[in-house]
Amino acid sequence: MILITGASGSVGKTVLQEAIGKESKVRAMYRSREEAAKAPSGCEPVLADYSDKQSLRKALDGVTSVYVVCSPIPQLVELENNALNACKESGVKHVVLNSALGAGDYPKSFPSWHRKVEDKLKETRMSYTILRPNGFLQNIVTYNAPSIRAQGAFYVAMGDAKVSYLDVGDIAVVAVKVLKGGTHAGKTYELNGPEALSNQELAKRISVVTGRTVNYVDIPESAQREAMLGLGMPEWQVTALLELQQFYKQGGGAKTDGLLQALIERAPVTLDQYLAANAREFRDQAASA
Ligand SMILES: NC(=O)c1ccc[n+]([C@@H]2O[C@H](COP(=O)([O-])OP(=O)(O)OC[C@H]3O[C@@H](n4cnc5c(N)ncnc54)[C@H](OP(=O)(O)O)[C@@H]3O)[C@@H](O)[C@H]2O)c1
Repeated sequence: MILITGASGSVGKTVLQEAIGKESKVRAMYRSREEAAKAPSGCEPVLADYSDKQSLRKALDGVTSVYVVCSPIPQLVELENNALNACKESGVKHVVLNSALGAGDYPKSFPSWHRKVEDKLKETRMSYTILRPNGFLQNIVTYNAPSIRAQGAFYVAMGDAKVSYLDVGDIAVVAVKVLKGGTHAGKTYELNGPEALSNQELAKRISVVTGRTVNYVDIPESAQREAMLGLGMPEWQVTALLELQQFYKQGGGAKTDGLLQALIERAPVTLDQYLAANAREFRDQAASA
């Protein structure tokens, strides 16, 4: 039996879909009944919370491999540590940890939180595989599409920094493969997408796919901070996102290599493929109404 945690979240949900059909016994962990009710067929939903030891024990009963993921929140370190302790106590054989690119050497923001959990996982002496994905292609819709729809532009303090975005579906293929352990045990995989893309290039490609001019406006970091706070985002999240952008501005996210392709045994999803599948997300609301 494998357990997929975070089954209501962006990556966890996709890992779950990938696992169903490939694995005979799949359990999916949700925190709320409402989300568990949406569990796809082919898996066994279970309710549990990383902050509730007893619920974790039940979720892990009979489980041999676990995919561990949590929301990018300041409590992530404590919550995932709880999950790892419970895995150890339950005799889990192999853990796949969803970490983030930068956990190797960037001492700030989300990567530094993930690094603490990686270190804890190694201390447990359980068999593990760590995944450190670069930025998700899906972020482009989450963060940039709203102002593109409304104003035909997106505003970020990223200069001409490049990011090798990858598709969450490709991460899921890797996650399910490495849940088996085997030659993947003890490995840390840094997962990069196929092209390093600046925001100027993103704007060009979105313009082509939507048939309207989309502009990237490079703004001062202080202006981005004010804008995010104005949208009601908490201070810790604004700081973490801006510090992550610094990682990208230092060139930390611009690497491309063949590792993802080798692991998934096909070409990774490209920006153009992602945009073609999601073009409606960027279209002018009034024009497409
Ligand atoms: N976005 C990126 O570009 C990027 C890149 C690299 C790495 N990452 C990392 O990828 C991870 C996952 O991102 P995501 O976008 O999939 O996050 P997400 O959509 O917020 O999903 C997180 C999942 O964790 C669950 N969760 C939260 N608190 C929990 C708790 N106390 N007990 C059990 N489960 C809990 C959530 O459940 P609920 O639905 O009940 O809240 C949800 O299912 C993050 O750690 C992030 O740092 C992201």
